[in-house]
Amino acid sequence: MRFFHPIAAIALLSTAQGHGTGAHYGILKLGGCMKAKHHEDHSLTGTLLNLSDDAVVQVSVSPDSLKDGEEATVEWFYETGYAASTSNWIGYYCSDDLASLEDTNYIDYRYVTSSEVSSSGGSFTTSIKSARSSFCEFRFFSSSYIKIGVSNAVEVTDAKTKVQHLHLALTSNNDEMRVSWTSGSNDAPKVYLSTTEDLKDAGVFEGDCHTYKQSDMCEEPATSEAGFVDPGWLCSAIVKNLEVDTEYFYQATSDGVNFSPPTSFLSAPPTNDPDYSFSFLVYGDMGTWSGDNGEASIATASISTAYVLNDNVRRVDHFGDISYARGISSTWDVWFDLIEPYASKVPYMITIGNHEYDHIEGTDPSGDNFRPSWFNGGTDSEGECSVPMYNRFTMPENDLSNSIYWYGFNYANVATLMLSSEHNMTVGSPQYTFVEETLAAIDRQVTPWVIVEFHRPMYNNEDYASDNEVSENIQLQMEELFVKHDVDLVLAGHYHSYLRSKRIYQDKADEDNGIYHFTIGSAGAALDDAGLVPKDWVETFSLEFGIGKISVANSTHMKWEFIENKENEDMGGVTDETWIVKRQG
Ligand SMILES: [Fe+2]
Ligand SMILES: [Fe+2]
Repeated sequence: MRFFHPIAAIALLSTAQGHGTGAHYGILKLGGCMKAKHHEDHSLTGTLLNLSDDAVVQVSVSPDSLKDGEEATVEWFYETGYAASTSNWIGYYCSDDLASLEDTNYIDYRYVTSSEVSSSGGSFTTSIKSARSSFCEFRFFSSSYIKIGVSNAVEVTDAKTKVQHLHLALTSNNDEMRVSWTSGSNDAPKVYLSTTEDLKDAGVFEGDCHTYKQSDMCEEPATSEAGFVDPGWLCSAIVKNLEVDTEYFYQATSDGVNFSPPTSFLSAPPTNDPDYSFSFLVYGDMGTWSGDNGEASIATASISTAYVLNDNVRRVDHFGDISYARGISSTWDVWFDLIEPYASKVPYMITIGNHEYDHIEGTDPSGDNFRPSWFNGGTDSEGECSVPMYNRFTMPENDLSNSIYWYGFNYANVATLMLSSEHNMTVGSPQYTFVEETLAAIDRQVTPWVIVEFHRPMYNNEDYASDNEVSENIQLQMEELFVKHDVDLVLAGHYHSYLRSKRIYQDKADEDNGIYHFTIGSAGAALDDAGLVPKDWVETFSLEFGIGKISVANSTHMKWEFIENKENEDMGGVTDETWIVKRQG
């Protein structure tokens, strides 16, 4: 577990509670050389970061009023005699009440560069994304974390009215699409939809909105985080009666005054063609990071956007550890800003991860909190207990499904079961029964491919004892059922690495009975550094950031590719590929 955090150097952070827990830090691109986000150290005291009596850096930002997403220039000058260093850093803060916003609650930061040290000051230009707050400012810190300068505030004039965080999801009907967005109003949520770009003669689909409060969550720090940002109204509408494989243009509004920019999506393919060909992207563990290995989460978003716009990529599946907000509500806004360019074009389907769900106390929206002795989830959601996820996403409903936690859908010739590794899967449990009945009901002549996705893998050979114990228990509960129903592929994350396996059955490579189990927990969160346990089923293992791409060719062949987040390559680089071919007989 890698920390890259200036404050961490002098403050005691909460220690990691097993693999996949502990502190990770996210990022927004703040111009220049950004490193990591570090606003979750609640153990910092005010004295450490108080503004010194003599501010020695004059910081300003202009213009002082703009719209969300517009650029501003930050400029600073050192007072005579001040010896700047590359350990100085500039934090980016947004709030409706900046005066009461703690220094630890920043959205992003950057270090001062060496050329800015040798000059009388420095400047950079950055896009102001305010996470729905009305004001933003920049605070300048010394190498010993003393605040030595604060800029003027920038007013973000449309912070409360902008329609943003547009994202799509499939429903349980193939001729529908759910359009979701965030805004400051719930007066008249609607989506205008048309097959023509000018939205002439658009159909109007009414939606609804809801929200959540800090008190809806389960534990601290989520229930007490000082910088809680009201999530606004989380709205969605289902557009209906769509023709298959058809481009539809749309705009969303919550009040009839403010609209999302017009964009378009391709409706779902037919579900009666077993040889249909299409592609989709798959990954887990994204967050909002950059960190010292490059701008991994940002690269995941930009590469995904490139594939959606330039390739036959029709949907994105993200299996858990989504934003890593973990109680810091504004991180959800930052993350939705990252995915909007592609999630507004193709369905973005999710499963829940430990960092969204796991909690000890309180009642969460799933109605269940399964905590057997072998489960190591603890308080990994930092009190969120899936409340933000539950309110921000709506997934297809089917027989025996449970909201965002377990559900299934057919897309073209692929049936996908999205499950929760954080919930009970034992024989007879609601989730097990859902899996059993859903798998049994799939007509493999029409829908030949079956993929299961959940956050924690059944098989991974990284040496994390407590996580491996969870995997072994999931094997005990689900493997026979998956094998009986000839599941083709199981996808998971949680381990921050990439693993492509041979077909596995009962912890052995088994071409005749086994299932492929791939781990793609490499979409942005800090990569793992554990030892590896020798297993005969490992085909490829790598510690590189990247995402998976599945291209279904027909009813018997699908291509698998791992796309590394290569710098300066818009569409990344394919570093591993293979064909998944149906077993004969
Ligand atoms: Fe993770
Ligand atoms: Fe995880």
